[in-house]
Amino acid sequence: MSADRRPSRRQVLRWLGVGAGVVVVGGTAARAGDQGLFAPRTGPAYAAWHEHPSGVRGVVAAAVLAASAHNMQNWRFRLDGGAIEVSDDLTRSLGVVDAHRREAHLGIGCAVANAEVAAPALGLAPDLVVLPGAGVLARLALAPHDRLPVDGLDAAIVDRHSDRGPYPAEVPSTPLLDDVRSVALSGSERVDIVWVTGTAALARLGRLLTDAAQALVDDERMSIDNAALVRYDHGQVERRMDGLTMDAQGMSAFMTVAAQLAPAVPRHQADASWVSATRSVHTATARAYALVVGDRDDVATRVHAGRAVQRLHLALVARGWAMQHMNQAVEMAERDVLTGTADRFDGPLSDLAGGRVVTVVRAGRPSGRAVPSPRRPVSQVLG
Ligand SMILES: Cc1cc2nc3c(=O)[nH]c(=O)nc-3n(C[C@H](O)[C@H](O)[C@H](O)COP(=O)(O)O)c2cc1C
Repeated sequence: MSADRRPSRRQVLRWLGVGAGVVVVGGTAARAGDQGLFAPRTGPAYAAWHEHPSGVRGVVAAAVLAASAHNMQNWRFRLDGGAIEVSDDLTRSLGVVDAHRREAHLGIGCAVANAEVAAPALGLAPDLVVLPGAGVLARLALAPHDRLPVDGLDAAIVDRHSDRGPYPAEVPSTPLLDDVRSVALSGSERVDIVWVTGTAALARLGRLLTDAAQALVDDERMSIDNAALVRYDHGQVERRMDGLTMDAQGMSAFMTVAAQLAPAVPRHQADASWVSATRSVHTATARAYALVVGDRDDVATRVHAGRAVQRLHLALVARGWAMQHMNQAVEMAERDVLTGTADRFDGPLSDLAGGRVVTVVRAGRPSGRAVPSPRRPVSQVLG
């Protein structure tokens, strides 16, 4: 190259800048493609939300759309004549976060609730028996029937998602809370639902839940197991079809895209973000909390509690409201017993509820950030 045609230093820098820009844009676009951002929630991991088989298989298809802790989907279904038997899949676990499988059993109750609600529209009359102890936890007999009233909750099954976004300032009225509470408890035994409302009580429970989130991340073992089902990688979502995805965390659109484009953040950073969201979003905008009360150590009670809380969620969604489970205070209450730590959470929860708390949720109007989470298909869970 002759001296006069040699590029100036400024030109070289400009070309490098353009080149770097192309690489960055190209790299970002490739990463966005890998993370499924161009067609969000459309792959096989989300197919369960759109497929509606008929008959008994349709009942199981509704069951798998239920909530489960960390979206672990610890359910197994078996057809036995005209009934569905539901058992707890012990291979799916939250480790020390759910050492006694309280949340696993709640998840079974959630699945049973969806199954029961869906059955009449599929021409099947459901008859639920919750069984004590291990093995099969619930049996749902389904008798063909041609004229059944369809529960108003049925349509909410596909619209129900855990809503972790901020809830606008509207406070739910007492008649609304009474109404959804009675829908939730209809057919549920052994449990009650206590609403926590009013500025002082909301603030008190909000502080307790934030303290519990901080205590959880300060406990290294809890923090590790709590993070195990967080899915940063879209490929993993497609393969595993479970877990907590970035786009279901209720963040703003900008933060959701950024979180999906960025590599997985270190665990301690994710923990700090969760505690911060608990303080400044989840508890700060909770308009009511429901405390489900019962004998926390009894398996059948946990299944009934899961059934009630799933029905509560469906009832709220059917009326245009949103819900998020918030279990950290109960998790830490159980953890404190295991580690021999003086009680920090059980006493205050019981004071608020007037009984032993099995699980906690918050409610409010949605701000439009809830989206579906992945699901394993019926073929994987029906044995
Ligand atoms: C027993 C139980 C405990 C849960 N605990 C929490 C919780 O503490 N925080 C939270 O944000 N979601 C919690 N969830 C919600 C699940 O993460 C959620 O159901 C799952 O990711 C599937 O998403 P979906 O509910 O939108 O279908 C819980 C759900 C259940 C059934």
